[in-house]
Amino acid sequence: MFALPNLPFDYSALEPVLSAATMKLHHDKHHAKYVETLNALVGESEGGVSLETLLRLPATPDREKLLQNAGQAWNHAFFWNGMTAAETAPAEPLLGAIDAAFGSLGALRQAFIDAGKSHFGSGWVWLVARGDVLSVRTTHDGGSLATGPDAPLLVCDLWEHAYYLDHQNDRAGFLGAWWDRLVNWEFVEAQYRAANTAREPWTYAEGSRPQPVVTRDDFEQALEEVTTYLARPPEAGTPHDKRMDVRLEQVGDYHAVRKVEPTSADAARFAHLDERLKAFERRWPKRPPPGTPDHWQLSLGGGLSQ
Ligand SMILES: [Fe+2]
Repeated sequence: MFALPNLPFDYSALEPVLSAATMKLHHDKHHAKYVETLNALVGESEGGVSLETLLRLPATPDREKLLQNAGQAWNHAFFWNGMTAAETAPAEPLLGAIDAAFGSLGALRQAFIDAGKSHFGSGWVWLVARGDVLSVRTTHDGGSLATGPDAPLLVCDLWEHAYYLDHQNDRAGFLGAWWDRLVNWEFVEAQYRAANTAREPWTYAEGSRPQPVVTRDDFEQALEEVTTYLARPPEAGTPHDKRMDVRLEQVGDYHAVRKVEPTSADAARFAHLDERLKAFERRWPKRPPPGTPDHWQLSLGGGLSQ
């Protein structure tokens, strides 16, 4: 079963370019429906297979519906992660690659908007990299560039459901505002580095990770829940076990997300949790903090108090 990834921001975070109403409809109805249909088509037979693996299957006619829905599931999750309300800007070496391919960042902007504007019907407009060579491409309907040979760096949804409530039929206006206000250049750069190094690119599983907890109260609540679970760990694979994993991940990410050092009291509590985790052979989910080069690279292992 594939999970519907949470949005990595609040519904209203991208206003005024994309309203909360658009984001709610787009994520909760459209994206959710693609994931639901995908799960129904996949059935039990593909259990445990990653979405990327599924998308590498040969595109035979009998798989068209499956691959279209798989593409839509992947593309939307990648699209959410390529957006942020924070102000970001491209830096080297990505900027040099942009200059080499397009002449300037402004020329890339225009090429991206033109490609999206002139694309007939529904689909997606992409910035991709083959090594350090960048280009702009489009795909129709649920067509996805998830599995190469070009590595996707950024995508924008050209389906009318993405922009019609806020921009009506002005696709070019939407693309311009989207480019100027919402592109998450930190994410684009991480994908560019992955395309040129041994680093792993973003994957659907990464996008499906739980929303971080950001307030101290929520952190305390998550920590308390984890501590309770670890006093008597639930059986593997049960809903409580999955819930514990989510809460562990949120607890483990809290300080990195807030960019604060654990207090000595927190450190002591983490040390205690580490002991419990070791006793039950469980491991902390672990990833580098947001804003660092490897943030999008999922890795497991280690302990927070180490
Ligand atoms: Fe969409």
